[in-house]
Amino acid sequence: MDHFLYRDGALHAEDVPVAEIAAAVGTPFYLYSAATLTRHFRLFDEALEGVDHLVCYAMKAASNQAILTLLAGLGAGMDVVSGGEYARAKAAGVPGERIVFSGVGKTREEIATALAGGLRQFNVESEPELAEIDAVARQMGVIAPVTLRVNPDVDAKTHAKIATGKSENKFGIPIARARAVYAHAASLQGVKVVGIDVHIGSQLTDLAPFRAAYRKVAELTGQLRADGHEISRLDLGGGLGIPYERSNSAPPLPVEYGAMIREELGHLGAQIEIEPGRLIAGNAGIMVTQVIYVKEGEGRDFLIVDAAMNDLIRPAMYDAYHDIVPVIEPAPGAESRPYDIVGPVCETGDTFARARAMPPVGPGDLLAFRSAGAYGAVMASEYNARPMIPEVMVQGDQFAVIRRRPTFDEMIKRDTIPPWIGGNPA
Ligand code: LLP
Repeated sequence: MDHFLYRDGALHAEDVPVAEIAAAVGTPFYLYSAATLTRHFRLFDEALEGVDHLVCYAMKAASNQAILTLLAGLGAGMDVVSGGEYARAKAAGVPGERIVFSGVGKTREEIATALAGGLRQFNVESEPELAEIDAVARQMGVIAPVTLRVNPDVDAKTHAKIATGKSENKFGIPIARARAVYAHAASLQGVKVVGIDVHIGSQLTDLAPFRAAYRKVAELTGQLRADGHEISRLDLGGGLGIPYERSNSAPPLPVEYGAMIREELGHLGAQIEIEPGRLIAGNAGIMVTQVIYVKEGEGRDFLIVDAAMNDLIRPAMYDAYHDIVPVIEPAPGAESRPYDIVGPVCETGDTFARARAMPPVGPGDLLAFRSAGAYGAVMASEYNARPMIPEVMVQGDQFAVIRRRPTFDEMIKRDTIPPWIGGNPA
């Protein structure tokens, strides 16, 4: 459930009419609901009630400082994958002991920064990375807490670009090699093994692949403990999907996911970490855009909107479906027509939806793209020199711009022209 509902014929974000925000901020923009973010975080936290656990929000989904600060205030940990994300977590007030550092290519600098600033653990993805972390830690005279990310060779049954748990993927250490790598890790002076990490993919709509992976983790835990390793922590990754298409059956709920975790791993007495991103932020955000033109083509009609693939890349990149609804509630029984909904960018790939049935809409009308809170703003670019669109957050009857739209001038001034080019810039 989210807090973007029609009320009195107009789409509201919590208690604020979306059109009011559009008038104040201009389109396009991202709009988040604080109540929805809070609710989604709590669903996970409550799903693991009674189990020693930490919900580490995967901030790659949406990393505006306002979102991070809100979640940090609720007690969230963070899953970070870069020096930039680590800095954002710290800036949001997340204590080091609540930050887990994932990612296949952690650099020496990133490792050193996290060790100096404090962290809960590195989720180590390969043997060379383990060696690097050990070397940096020894040089700094500290001990790095680590889990090893194992690749369980499980098919997550999701889009190929976001499946990570098959042996052909670049992620993790093959589970068959795990015992050998743990034995090696135990011999290193700069690292301390604290547990196991696994993450098999994103937008999973079924619990079965999670269950298969977690069962392998449970088995490995027993083996590693028998080998003498202290496995006190299990990081189970993120990946629980969200309903993008309201007509489809809904993915499992966090409470069902939590119950499955207890069933598979509860007996091990380990601390549980999870790294949800999409489910916390996805349906807590919409993208609001305005129709510029209605263009009647040959055999198909186009709604040309002022948002484009640079603002929301998911449809172009993953053929992702986003529900697109008018901000003014359509009259009951209004007849729908199919439109291709496209942006102004000069590529055919700049298509949000094809032959999408839409109620009557015309130039100037506002549309909302639902489920755009995760992997929306964070994946935006300035392609076609389109400035990054603003982000706004609503709480109750108030709203605030949490990242403003840059001016053209700011965009241009970020570049520098070497003196040897000459010319005469205005
Ligand atoms: N933990 C790790 C190690 C991850 O790689 C990811 C996501 C997560 C947690 C969070 O997964 P989530 O709960 O959000 O599914 N840009 C793509 C999604 C990429 C996901 C990458 N990893 C999209 O727009 O669908």
